[in-house]
Amino acid sequence: MVVVTDKPSLCRELDGHRLTSTVGLVPTMGNLHAGHLRLVRKAKLLGDVVVVSLYVNPLQFGPDEDFSIYPRNRSRDIRLLEREGIDLVFAPSHEQMYPSGTEQSVTISAGPTGSILCGKSRPGHFDGVATVVAKLFNLVRPSLAVFGEKDWQQLVVIRQMGSQLDMAIDIHSERTERDEDGLALSSRNQYLRRKERARAPRLIATLRRAATRSAKGAEERDQAVAEAREELEVAGFAVEYVEVRNERNLQPAHDSGGPLRVFGAACLGKTRLIDNVPVPGSPLTP
Ligand code: PAJ
Repeated sequence: MVVVTDKPSLCRELDGHRLTSTVGLVPTMGNLHAGHLRLVRKAKLLGDVVVVSLYVNPLQFGPDEDFSIYPRNRSRDIRLLEREGIDLVFAPSHEQMYPSGTEQSVTISAGPTGSILCGKSRPGHFDGVATVVAKLFNLVRPSLAVFGEKDWQQLVVIRQMGSQLDMAIDIHSERTERDEDGLALSSRNQYLRRKERARAPRLIATLRRAATRSAKGAEERDQAVAEAREELEVAGFAVEYVEVRNERNLQPAHDSGGPLRVFGAACLGKTRLIDNVPVPGSPLTP
């Protein structure tokens, strides 16, 4: 496995492969867990050469968010990727990614999809994600890339960016890896205190119940969402949203006949958790 930290070395390493192989990319912010490794394994099945990027992207963090304390564990990440048989790791510095600083004047707008759900409380977040992913796409020029369904809104933003900006990259998704009690794996779970960790699986349990009820029709859906919010608040979560939307374009459920998904975001203490679950009976998108 080769680890490169600068753009010229990345290009050099990839040049040899590009003509003969399918290059797959898995963008990550490092501090890898079993969820990331699912994406890596999928990319290995789909591509001949797999590039994994490790980069905590400052552009997607708000001023009061956890950029400075976001867990970083480069040597462990590299060990794990080596064990997975990854070909190339790109772990750039901020100077490499943003030579003019993060105030760069050219960025990608995630469009209206970037300002609903998580975008409401994290203005600019999806623009930051779209910008760094576009840069990684331009640097690696992969045929395919793999993203996790845990961050469903991110997946939709990237799919829209890819198709609307004619990027000709196949975007694949991989299902959410969970702990035994249902909690979606996330680097941010490390912030949870012991009592919060014990309560955290109630988010997915509540969303699952709301999804089952939502399958029964619009009226039941509205009630299920309201009750899910209330249940979570009673369990000590500060709820940001619980919403049912079309999973392909994230339009509100009542405007679309497509497959539906329940989305939720809530804080336990200082830790923000997100999750999503399909409404049963809806055809699967990916
Ligand atoms: P990060 O949070 O490190 O996640 C990297 C990829 O792993 C994303 O596609 C995410 O959806 C996926 N992932 C995270 N937790 C997962 C889980 N429990 N099961 C399956 N997949 C999971 O998402 C980002 O980084 C960044 O926004 C990035 C796309 C790298 C751009 O900076």
